[in-house]
Formats: sequence, structure tokens, C-alpha cells
Amino acid sequence: MGEQIMDLITESEIKKFMKSSRMGRKVVYFEETDSTNIQAKLIKKGSDWDGTLVIAEKQNLGKGRRGRSWSSPAGSGIWMSLLIKPDIPTDRVSSVTLVSALAVHRALRKLCPSGLLIKWPNDLVINGKKLCGILTEMSCESSINYVVIGIGINVNNSSFPEEIGETATSLSGSLGHAVKRAPIVADFLSEFENLYEDFEKKGDISFMLDEYERFLANKDRRVRVLKPENEWEGTARGVNKRGELLVENDRGEIITVISGEVSVRGLYGYS
Ligand code: BTN
Repeated sequence: MGEQIMDLITESEIKKFMKSSRMGRKVVYFEETDSTNIQAKLIKKGSDWDGTLVIAEKQNLGKGRRGRSWSSPAGSGIWMSLLIKPDIPTDRVSSVTLVSALAVHRALRKLCPSGLLIKWPNDLVINGKKLCGILTEMSCESSINYVVIGIGINVNNSSFPEEIGETATSLSGSLGHAVKRAPIVADFLSEFENLYEDFEKKGDISFMLDEYERFLANKDRRVRVLKPENEWEGTARGVNKRGELLVENDRGEIITVISGEVSVRGLYGYS
């Protein structure tokens, strides 16, 4: 990026833009850390941690889904984890990830009004390339102890490691100019707070399904469902109120696909 902008993501910078009250109540900032998800999990040993945001300029051990790593260089992205104590049954936790994806979508679509889509359950893609990934981790016994929502958004990255060079993109890469990160973080916190409050009250995501499906990259596209025991192809038709993907098989039956148990890969990359 030739253009330089003042772009801090420290606690005081984020708080300048923050409108949320529960989410981001406390902000823990690291210039460098292993992984904000790891740090978030350490915080919850004390009390009064619900809504804490952990954010880092650089992660040395950024974690992706399915045991992959997440490239998190300094000065280029938003690497953050939100620590919450949800008051919901344990079988509803997978929906939190769709709530988070829609909150990121709302925050980012103000900047890039067209072409930003959600790949079920929680990747954000633009022009067929991945812009944001979310790794939700939880601990529960009879009820939920905590949930950590780890979000990685490529903002001003000008290059990527070779192995993701073809499939990853950044906001600046698609907009053609550098973008300030702190307002995006603050916006996400407000959007998540609003959506999450409804989700907790209503107990499912039916209230946000229309909006989620409007931006669903997989909708009416062929997908391949990868289960440990077999693989099959079908057409994604939408999402139900529990956040499961509805896939129509070639006999015209609708099969619900649960996130985490299977991986749904679009047949045409991320588009
Ligand atoms: C994915 O594989 O799509 C999920 C990537 C999640 C990356 C974020 S960056 C902030 C948080 N800390 C981590 O170690 N991972 C998540």
C-alpha cells in the first residue's frame, strides 16, 4: 500500500468509536501475542469478563478452523476475539457463529456495498475470495461456561502467504484504498450486540434469516457435502432457524447439514 493512514486498534482508539455497552466493555490489547482466542480463554479465570474483547496487532500462532493456521501479520488486519457467557442451551451455540458472521457483514457492507457475501456458516467472501474467517470455541458442562468468537478480517493486507494467495483477499485490495480498522471493530461490536440480544431473547435465528440468506453465497448453488462416511452433491437452498444448511439432493429431498460435522465446499471456489 503506498498510502499511509493513522490506523491504531488500541483500547483508546476503539473506544472513540464505540457505541455498544456489553460487547467491548473491556478491551485487552496486545501489540503481539500467540492467538487472541488463546488469550481470551485465559481471561475467563476471573469473574466479570462477559463481553471482553481481546485484540492484537499481530498474532504469532493465529488459529483457523480445522486445525489450520491463520496468517496474522502486524498492521494489516483485525485479529480479535470476543469472550461471552451466553445464557442459551448448549445445542444453540453453533448459531452464535452465524450471528457473528452477519454482524461482521453489517459492519463491512457500509464500506463495500456490493459483492460481499457470507459462505455458510461464517466465512465472508468478496469476488469469490475470502476476506474474513471466524473460529468459535466453547467450554461447557451442563451449561455453557464461555464462548470465544475469534474473528480475522483481512483489512489492509497487500500480500498473502503463497498457500492462500489465490483464495484470500483484503478490504483494501478490493476497494483500492487503505481502510481504518478501529471504526470497523466498534461497528462490529454494536451490530453483534443488537443481533445477539435478539438471539438470546428469541432462542433461535429466525429473526435474522431473511437478511442472512440475502447475502448467502451458497444459495441456489451446487455444493459438495463432505461427511466422514460419504460425499454427495446437492443444491443449497437456505438455512433453518438453528443455523443448519438446507441442501436439496438430486431426489429433491431437503437434507439439513450441521456445521462442524461436515464441510461444505462450493464447487466453484468461494464464489
Ligand atoms: C477460519 O479458519 O476461517 C477462521 C479464522 C479465525 C481467525 C481469527 S484471528 C483472531 C482469532 N484468533 C485466532 O487465533 N483465530 C481467530
